[in-house]
Amino acid sequence: DRVYRGSAHGKIILMGEHSAVYAKPAIVLPLSEASITATVTDMETECLDSSGVRLDCEYYVGKLSKAPENLRNIQELVVVLRNDFSIDGGISISITSSIPRERGMGSSAAVAVAIIRACAAYAHYSLTPDELFHYTQISENIAHAHASGMDAVAVSAESAIWFQQGEEVSTLHFSTPAVLVAADTGVTGATKEAVSDVHRLLYEDDDVVRNRAHRDIERLADLSIAAKRALQENDMTSLGAHMNEAQEILSTLTVSSGELDSLIQTARGAGALGAKLTGGGRGGCMIALARDKAHAHSIITALESAGAVRTWTVNLTSPSK
Ligand code: MEV
Repeated sequence: DRVYRGSAHGKIILMGEHSAVYAKPAIVLPLSEASITATVTDMETECLDSSGVRLDCEYYVGKLSKAPENLRNIQELVVVLRNDFSIDGGISISITSSIPRERGMGSSAAVAVAIIRACAAYAHYSLTPDELFHYTQISENIAHAHASGMDAVAVSAESAIWFQQGEEVSTLHFSTPAVLVAADTGVTGATKEAVSDVHRLLYEDDDVVRNRAHRDIERLADLSIAAKRALQENDMTSLGAHMNEAQEILSTLTVSSGELDSLIQTARGAGALGAKLTGGGRGGCMIALARDKAHAHSIITALESAGAVRTWTVNLTSPSK
């Protein structure tokens, strides 16, 4: 039997969530400890319907055309891939994932990238990075309505990226013993609601509220730039302070939550140089900056005893090739 695989990892936003929606820059890191793999094999057509595809994932096993509404992004993506890659026979796509869903870690973009890579391998189709992005966005635009494209780029990037909508993506390379700890509150994030609430503040009738929200977005943009500089200068004290300030602003913009605030306080109490939410907020995950791996370990212990359901460590230094 022919067996082809494709995979993608999760992502963590270091700086720039929410302001990214307004074309401000963000720093996004690969989360290599969490990934998704798609496996494509031939399938007897008798087991299939007109779609010719069987899907096997954690939430659904069966004919792709009969999959529930929340898998419509995958349904539509696979129809396009079969056509463009000339996959005529029946196939089975099975998915395994260690990226939690709805935590702002890029699971929806990663599942799309994994499927695209596996289907391309199956069809012996050689994908360009632009094509990979284009196909990923077909799925992301269904899953998220106004996807900035940040996740599509981040889950297939091998190093940190500087992302600004409408601009060329650049890769960032840092060299520091510092690492990030990421922790899941266990509460589903609410990115869509958070994004629309920030939008409402920016278009509020009350001048004071509206002007403040605009200043907040500008300040988040400045903090992304300052964070990049701190990383390039290996100044982790400044990076931590910038993360703390970003968290204050994100709180003012109403996108933090009690669970996030509590884990952020715990991390700071355990000596983190800085801590903030990551992703859309209102639940989901937070990140904390540790001096080194040993320090990360003690922050993780504190976060786990404070109720974090999962933790990861994220390298700031890119893997050497
Ligand atoms: C969500 O991970 C990041 C946001 O900035 C939304 C986006 O950029 O699409 C909140």
